[in-house]
Amino acid sequence: MTTEIALITGANKGIGLETARILGRDGITVLLGARSAEHGERAAAALGGEGIDARFVRLDVTDAGTVEAAAKLIDAEFGRLDILINNAGITTTGATGHAPSRTAPDLVRAAFEVNVFGVVAVTNAMLPLLRRSPAGRIVNVSSELGSLTLHSDPSSAVHGVNLLPYNASKSALNAVTVAYAKELAGTSVTVNAATPGYCATDLNEHAGHRTAAQGASVIAGVAVLGADGPTGAYLAEDGPLPW
Ligand SMILES: NC(=O)c1ccc[n+]([C@@H]2O[C@H](COP(=O)([O-])OP(=O)(O)OC[C@H]3O[C@@H](n4cnc5c(N)ncnc54)[C@H](OP(=O)(O)O)[C@@H]3O)[C@@H](O)[C@H]2O)c1
Repeated sequence: MTTEIALITGANKGIGLETARILGRDGITVLLGARSAEHGERAAAALGGEGIDARFVRLDVTDAGTVEAAAKLIDAEFGRLDILINNAGITTTGATGHAPSRTAPDLVRAAFEVNVFGVVAVTNAMLPLLRRSPAGRIVNVSSELGSLTLHSDPSSAVHGVNLLPYNASKSALNAVTVAYAKELAGTSVTVNAATPGYCATDLNEHAGHRTAAQGASVIAGVAVLGADGPTGAYLAEDGPLPW
């Protein structure tokens, strides 16, 4: 059987690194996208020490040059890509945030640069490679905080977490997911949004109640669904979430 190739953005730490570890243990070659060569090489070496075929790929999702170079490198080395996990993500207001009325537009813009525009840039660059896979899979790492339905429900735990830049960027990422799924319907490429749950990582100053590995198991689980798996879905550990 041919070894599958997965690219994970923001894979030098947190949920991205743990997702790479799970996929790597499954025998998948994992390409660790990271903007810092030092951090990316270190993560690849750590996984390599565990017997995982892990390689660092320089990739800042906001830098078109690194995105194009990464696609060229993967094309030259492997000629295709089976799994793309758009995991790189930021919050620009910290874990507690500011009221929307006190949020500078630049904070919203910065969140969208990574969490939305970066996903579009990476997806467009990698799609020709994913189309060459017998079962290409794109997983966009979203959040419950992207659910407009949950935000509109005062009884939901999500309702009280009003982080404008992050939440709006994840809602937009959900819209991006649906748009690509519609374009790619009937092809060999599926596109889903998946949410890891609230995990203790640098993103939230380790306030999450789940481990990064627990969150990663949700993302990796969606990534290994076969060609007959869902597309255009918004998936959490316990099943689909309302958009
Ligand atoms: N933790 C949670 O509870 C939670 C819940 C729902 C969804 N998520 C999502 O899960 C994903 C991973 O987050 P995490 O919790 O693992 O956070 P994290 O530990 O802070 O990791 C974020 C990763 O994204 C990378 N990154 C940031 N900007 C980037 C850029 N411009 N280009 C490439 N990589 C970039 C970071 O690289 P550097 O090390 O260079 O900064 C890091 O590798 C994010 O999309 C986040 O929104 C997390």
